[in-house]
Amino acid sequence: MVIIPSILEKVGNTPLVSIKMKEFENINLYTKLETYNPTGSVKDRAASYILRKLLSTDKISQNTTIIESTSGNFGVALSAYCKYYGLPFIAVVDPNITLINEMLIVSNGAEIVKVDHPDEYGGYLLNRIEKVKELQSQIHDSYWVNQYENPLNANAYYQSLGKELCFQIEEIDYIFIGVSSGGTITGVSRKIKENFPNAKVVAVDVEGSVIFKGQSQKRYIPGIGSSMKPKILKRAKIDEVIITDEVSTINACLELLRNYSFYVGGSSGSAFAAIKQYFKQNKPDRPVNVVTIFPDRGERYFDTIYDPKWVERIKDIKDIRSLEKENTIIY
Ligand SMILES: Cc1ncc(COP(=O)(O)O)c(C=O)c1O
Repeated sequence: MVIIPSILEKVGNTPLVSIKMKEFENINLYTKLETYNPTGSVKDRAASYILRKLLSTDKISQNTTIIESTSGNFGVALSAYCKYYGLPFIAVVDPNITLINEMLIVSNGAEIVKVDHPDEYGGYLLNRIEKVKELQSQIHDSYWVNQYENPLNANAYYQSLGKELCFQIEEIDYIFIGVSSGGTITGVSRKIKENFPNAKVVAVDVEGSVIFKGQSQKRYIPGIGSSMKPKILKRAKIDEVIITDEVSTINACLELLRNYSFYVGGSSGSAFAAIKQYFKQNKPDRPVNVVTIFPDRGERYFDTIYDPKWVERIKDIKDIRSLEKENTIIY
């Protein structure tokens, strides 16, 4: 009998599940269900790995205050692993944080600092970073995780998720990965290309994000996209980029639940939408193995993606936006 001392030691080795899509007979689709990590998302891998590495290399001590700007899964995961390692943690968040994430972070004993003034672009990211720097200067023994620049974020995925995929699948022809901080795709793509040099790595982003192109626009679904370009992405091995829109993301989530019984978060829907979009235009003439990652579960989106009223509101807003775009051309 194997008994583990804490559930937080059970990171990784998540299930790999196959999806047979009727409309694409040559595609063997496999997805890693990252919700089976202890705090419910792919971010357990980064949070646990980063803290362990920092402690084992004496970059931080037991007294170091960990600081990060995050309103999402990374904040939830960091709050759990900081508690596990006995480290104080401050999450710098903004008013867009969901009630459930705030509750989870606070329940883990972390401090929340909420930035409520929008920056010059109308978002909060720049002011959140300013606040992190201010806290760093005030707290003598502190460490800013900085997921967008910290190479440990990508290493975490190279060492765990990338390795697992190479071990679990005989041949990988394509992999589709949603991007936010860039940690997952940077680590996984490097590992996959070492083992399967011909594999095509497709990055998935959403409209309104500036990671690969375009201008920052209000986005409604957290977990994917960013309003700044992550520096760690420079080391990623990306062959193609697909930009999905948020309505396709919602529809893909609903389809995954209806047809395949996956109750997943927004970025999983974006990846699934991107796969369908890509292969509609590039029908393979031989069987191919396509891999993707479903980073989290649907419960955290019960009042957005899975709430029909919210979906109607978003669709209306999007319609207004496209009308405004048309009007811009007319004027
Ligand atoms: C739900 C979800 N999907 C995808 C990602 C993207 O992962 P990364 O930040 O490694 O690019 C995140 C990151 O927070 C996430 O929470």
